[in-house]
Amino acid sequence: MNNPNASGSRIVGWGSDLPEKVLTNQDLADGGLDTSDEWIFERTGIRQRHVGGKTGEMSTNAGRKALEVAGVTGADIDLVIVATSTPDQLMPGTSATVHSELGIRGGACDMQAVCSGFSYALIAANGLIQTGLDRVLVIGADSLSPYVEWDNRSSAILFGDGAGAVVLERHSEETLLSFDLGADGDSRHIGFTDHGGKITMDGKEVFRTAVRAVTKSAQQAIDGAGLTAADIDWFVPHQANVRIIEAIASRVGIPMERAIVTIQDTANNSAATIPVALDTAVRDDRVQPGDTLLLGGFGFGMTWASAVMKWDPRD
Ligand code: COA
Repeated sequence: MNNPNASGSRIVGWGSDLPEKVLTNQDLADGGLDTSDEWIFERTGIRQRHVGGKTGEMSTNAGRKALEVAGVTGADIDLVIVATSTPDQLMPGTSATVHSELGIRGGACDMQAVCSGFSYALIAANGLIQTGLDRVLVIGADSLSPYVEWDNRSSAILFGDGAGAVVLERHSEETLLSFDLGADGDSRHIGFTDHGGKITMDGKEVFRTAVRAVTKSAQQAIDGAGLTAADIDWFVPHQANVRIIEAIASRVGIPMERAIVTIQDTANNSAATIPVALDTAVRDDRVQPGDTLLLGGFGFGMTWASAVMKWDPRD
């Protein structure tokens, strides 16, 4: 650390991890849930979800891949932040597992903003780099499957497990062009999980609130960067329901061909969705150096966060 002249940051490493076990829509229907692959796919865009992952293990795996891409080791990391609402233990944070497994030299903490957690953590990490850190490992990871009420067709179809990670490194130029984050604590009753309980939500209300909040937030982030929707090469949204993504994209003015959609394979794995989608789109060469990205997340709370970034990895 200790670089008072730091002026910005950029992502130099990325990775993701999904548990091997896959549950398809058909598996849910065959298992007795009163639903069908057609209904789920048409109403959500989901075909399958990965389940059975431990948050610490998935975080470690995704983090290790991100370090490898960045060409650094844990000894080069000043801080690891794990954004999760499903830590393996109440205490310590899941970041302690990652800290140990990856030999992180610096600090470790968890961040809880539910499905917006990765975006919040990325924005926070950028601020910490501006104030002196060199390199932060930012992970979004959740294991929602233990909290799913598997016999409730309104919610069981939506969730899965996974982790995604990035290494954010000090850079002479700022690639986080603008961000917007917010919350409406008065809406905390529309989606929640009590201690010892399962995911409980008013799906329609979550849908409406998410579209409204993320549309406004994304617009503010784009305006803040001095750009228009036409300047966004890739929209990397939280993957909760493809109809939510379509509604936001159309209101913001981004064609769906420029939205990264991975929900068909992963369902909603909460804080992991955005870094998993980013990792997917970088690996399949859709995202190219120089591209402008809009990251847009929302989660129970309700919380939301948008970020406009230039994709400028190291050579
Ligand atoms: N399979 C078959 N039918 C289902 C079903 C399922 N899995 N789930 C609900 N239905 C039925 C309902 O019982 C209802 O039947 P009815 O008309 O006879 O009463 C009908 O389908 C329509 O239900 P509705 O709740 O209006 O569907 P919807 O289009 O709103 O989709 C969600 C429901 C949950 C998929 C949708 O509201 C959603 O995705 N909300 C956001 C949730 C979310 O993202 N949470 C996490 C936020 S980070």
